[in-house]
Amino acid sequence: VGFGHVGKAFLGLVREKREWLKTHYSLELRLQALLVSAGGLFSESGITPRDFTEKAGPDLNLSSLWRPGLNVVSALGKTKPGIFVECTPSNIQTGEPGLTHIRDALKAGWHVVTANKGPLVVDLKGLRSLAGKNSLALKFSAAAAAALPTLDTALHSLAGAEILSIEGILNGTTNYVLTQMGEGTGYPEALREAQEKGIAEHDPRLDVEGWDTAAKTLIIGNSVLGLELALGDIKVEGITRIPPELPIRARQEGKAIKLLGRLGRSGGCWEAAVSPQLIERSHPLFGVNGTNKGISYTTDSMGTVTVTGGKSDPRGAAAAILKDIIHIFARVQ
Ligand SMILES: NC(=O)c1ccc[n+]([C@@H]2O[C@H](COP(=O)([O-])OP(=O)(O)OC[C@H]3O[C@@H](n4cnc5c(N)ncnc54)[C@H](OP(=O)(O)O)[C@@H]3O)[C@@H](O)[C@H]2O)c1
Repeated sequence: VGFGHVGKAFLGLVREKREWLKTHYSLELRLQALLVSAGGLFSESGITPRDFTEKAGPDLNLSSLWRPGLNVVSALGKTKPGIFVECTPSNIQTGEPGLTHIRDALKAGWHVVTANKGPLVVDLKGLRSLAGKNSLALKFSAAAAAALPTLDTALHSLAGAEILSIEGILNGTTNYVLTQMGEGTGYPEALREAQEKGIAEHDPRLDVEGWDTAAKTLIIGNSVLGLELALGDIKVEGITRIPPELPIRARQEGKAIKLLGRLGRSGGCWEAAVSPQLIERSHPLFGVNGTNKGISYTTDSMGTVTVTGGKSDPRGAAAAILKDIIHIFARVQ
């Protein structure tokens, strides 16, 4: 559900990797429903690229498979459960429409992969419990910094280590804007460039005011550390009030200004914050520039483990969705 930047990139990637998925994972994906606000396409035997073109976003209704008013509940009931992929816009206040979509999918016995942060910010605990009750997977790599493996690193590679603190550059738009500002580009121009790359949120205020980073910090804290943070628990400051000369001066002095999402303990309690920080060359996230992101875990037994890179754009998000599907397939097969 959702045939915007990410939904289109996902279907494009699946098409591009069809043979490769068969060879490497014995995985063949069949797209049975494709939904947008006004309706969708449905085919029990599978929707093929001939049934829509990538450019036909607004024109899905020109397809012979178009069913006006087809919605998630009606589509879920038409076929045997499989994997439900949620790519509608993130609303981090209400979680909707994705929250209801995901609840409906889990209740109907579908595994869920979501790129949408809203439902996870609002009710990760409830969704996990619903998935657990029905022995279903709920995966959301794309919602926690797209292709950067924030969750997989913590949950798999750091198994057995106690995580003491986390710092991340989790938003490609603000990192791009800050990097460009350091090179002398004005804020509005740098933001426009980020929007042209398709990486900015639907509402770019979510990026630049720090809320997208806060949402990802919350999702990482709640899923990796088992916290129960709400957005209101996070102190959030974005990049809109940074004087233009500051990133330039930082760069001249061999430092950098980065918007960091941070989780750390203070007086025995976990605290979460998002704010621009002046970092030194020795900081593990110093070299993370442009649309790249990074996350650094400080642990008790594995030292500091930092992962950087990973595409921020819709293709990177699509690749994270595909990764989650491959992992679900490996588990259920
Ligand atoms: N863009 C990125 O690089 C990126 C990276 C990681 C995660 N994400 C997340 O991925 C999600 C999708 O992002 P996007 O950039 O692809 O958004 P987008 O371009 O705005 O596309 C959103 C899609 O959702 C559909 N939609 C909206 N409300 C719906 C409803 N009630 N029922 C069915 N379909 C509905 C829209 O269809 P209509 O046009 O018909 O309303 C549209 O096809 C967001 O939650 C975003 O936070 C994005």
